[in-house]
Amino acid sequence: MSLIQKIEVLKEEALERLKQTNNAVELNAWRIRYLGKKSQLNDILRSLSTLPLNERKQVGAAANLLKTGLEERLSKKEQAINRKRIESTGEEQLDVSLPGCSLPIGRLHPVTQVIDEMSKIFVSMGFQVVEGPEVEWDYYNFEALNIPREHPARDTMATLWVDYETDGGDRPMLLRTHTSPMQIRVMEKMQPPLRVIVPGKVYRYEATDATHIPMFFQIEGFAVDKNITMAHLKGTLYEFSRRFFGQDRRARFRCDYFPFVEPGVEMAIECAVCKGNGCRLCGSSGWIEILGAGMVHPKVLERVDIDPRVYSGFAFGMGIERVPMLRYGIDDIRLFYSSDLRFLRQF
Ligand code: PHE
Repeated sequence: MSLIQKIEVLKEEALERLKQTNNAVELNAWRIRYLGKKSQLNDILRSLSTLPLNERKQVGAAANLLKTGLEERLSKKEQAINRKRIESTGEEQLDVSLPGCSLPIGRLHPVTQVIDEMSKIFVSMGFQVVEGPEVEWDYYNFEALNIPREHPARDTMATLWVDYETDGGDRPMLLRTHTSPMQIRVMEKMQPPLRVIVPGKVYRYEATDATHIPMFFQIEGFAVDKNITMAHLKGTLYEFSRRFFGQDRRARFRCDYFPFVEPGVEMAIECAVCKGNGCRLCGSSGWIEILGAGMVHPKVLERVDIDPRVYSGFAFGMGIERVPMLRYGIDDIRLFYSSDLRFLRQF
């Protein structure tokens, strides 16, 4: 039998035997027998160098062809056996080469991000951050802030009242309409000098539209000390505006009225879109109001036993949502609270 014939026979035999292997152990035995070091095929390959050139080429080609062919069949059979094993045992296939699936990482809500950013600026100016209750007594939300029962200023803040079992006393409860009640709560407990900011949720009984929602955020800020003047208020808020909105953004103060400050002001910043020239966003005025402020009313100080002849203070309160709206050109405030991840993931 020539070597070529021998290779042919070997091939037939190997393939026939391969068909009969059914598991990994049998397959390994097959591999050793037909592709191992002591296999006939390996003997032939090793003996090639002793053959005459002509035959060497022919036999070499056939033997190598057989070798690669058998190796291919081996790996196919190996896969088939594995597959069968997995199917029969129900064992899960674990492909360690697959890229891992990344877990989605949460992020801070854009409003939270703005609160953090603003707080950092005020903290660097010496303010401390405190928080207070969202369900509040009428006393703190109105009465102590110089807004008595029949005062018309109550109508400017449509109030959500809370029904509760009265304990005999007449203490109406509500969802705070602003963060200002925390001025009273803080001053009841702490003595000046005070520099405090209060971020938090507030509620108003209002119909919802693109610029109104019944729950939104404010940051209250106030400072009480000896010799605090309007100049401190303006200096603090100008500095805040420069740090938050940028060096070149102009800010403007105008008179306004709030019963718990005297004098009272509103602050507006230059519209970022039209640079003060007037556009749709700013109602063609060129300015956008961001906060109310003023000097703490002597009656408010008296209420918490701080002597207004010795101490004075300033206070301001600003809406939060408006800021990211202006910054990113968001035209509907409802987007912040509709839990649409496509919107929230942009921040
Ligand atoms: N609390 C006022 C409002 O919600 C804003 C304000 C705060 C005004 C502090 C003056 C001083 O409209």
